[in-house]
Amino acid sequence: MAVGLDDAGNLRGVYPASSPNARRLFIGSHLDTVPHAGAFDGVLGVVLAVALVDLLERRPLPFAIEVVGFSDEEGVGFGVPFIGSRALVGSVDEEFLNHRDAQGRSIGDALRDFGLDPSCVARARADGDLIGYLEFHIEQGPVLDGLGLPLGVVNAIVGQSRLSMTFTGSAGHAGTTPMSARRDALVGAAEWTTTVESIARETSGLVATVGRIHAWPGAGNVIPGSCELSLDVRHAEDAARTTAVAVILDAARLIAGRRGLDAQWTTHLDQASVAMSEYLSAMLERGVAAQGLPVHRMNSGAGHDAMIMAERMPAAMLFLRSPGGISHHPDEAVLEDDVAAALAVGRAVLDDIAGTRA
Ligand code: HGY
Ligand code: MN
Ligand code: MN
Repeated sequence: MAVGLDDAGNLRGVYPASSPNARRLFIGSHLDTVPHAGAFDGVLGVVLAVALVDLLERRPLPFAIEVVGFSDEEGVGFGVPFIGSRALVGSVDEEFLNHRDAQGRSIGDALRDFGLDPSCVARARADGDLIGYLEFHIEQGPVLDGLGLPLGVVNAIVGQSRLSMTFTGSAGHAGTTPMSARRDALVGAAEWTTTVESIARETSGLVATVGRIHAWPGAGNVIPGSCELSLDVRHAEDAARTTAVAVILDAARLIAGRRGLDAQWTTHLDQASVAMSEYLSAMLERGVAAQGLPVHRMNSGAGHDAMIMAERMPAAMLFLRSPGGISHHPDEAVLEDDVAAALAVGRAVLDDIAGTRA
């Protein structure tokens, strides 16, 4: 393959077609992951794509294959996810490049530090006659494992909201300040966090997570003057998700008002749920059935680059079972037979697209 780095830091390899200017199929996933992660989220999809090309043994197909390893999908560093896939669909602008990490470094700075020119990010945009995008990914949840199934075809990827919330009170001496005279930001944040959990438990199909909390100034003998938290809210129905976010934010106002605190928030992501391509999903289904495996359709609670690629081309996903439903954790795993089955499905889809399906 002709391999290179695009201007958004995506690693891309093109396996040429039997004729020039042919249509192109993207296959890939992301190379980044989360802190203290497992070894398969994202990178398994990139390695499976390379293995698929390897299976072709240099035999060209009537379409090109472009393997892509996206530079940043999780959004852990800069608070905004899907940086690489947004560049590939052409939706990265100046404002987006100015998102900053905890050290104040912008995405543009990071690209420059990596030897790239952020003003050229637009060149990463995929053009030409695009067949679509396939992503192989671990399910990251308990469904397939619970059903005893190796593979699943994704119907839709649920929408997600990502915000940061800051409660501000007043720092003070832990030993001399009476409890009645405090405006403790951390206690307000803690009350809000348990309220977030209660709202999610009471709303069918909703998940909501406070994954990060940072109290300032962070000394044991100082009443926290401010507290910053993350909020991640997801639901298959966008209206239910946005309603839940509004209820959660109202709760922040109420708790802050009662405790003499100030509550301020920033929305970093309001990503609608995205349906996968029926055309490509049917091919994945046929590939699964051809392996003699039951076909299972399901939604994805995790976000994926496929939801961004779908803005520009048909996109579809094949899930591999996550033993124990474990992910975003060092015990994340896959079963080799499931990987072999996924590879066989991928091979069948290539034949389907090439029109050489048995
Ligand atoms: O957070 C997610 O949904 C995925 O791991 N990017
Ligand atoms: Mn992930
Ligand atoms: Mn992932």
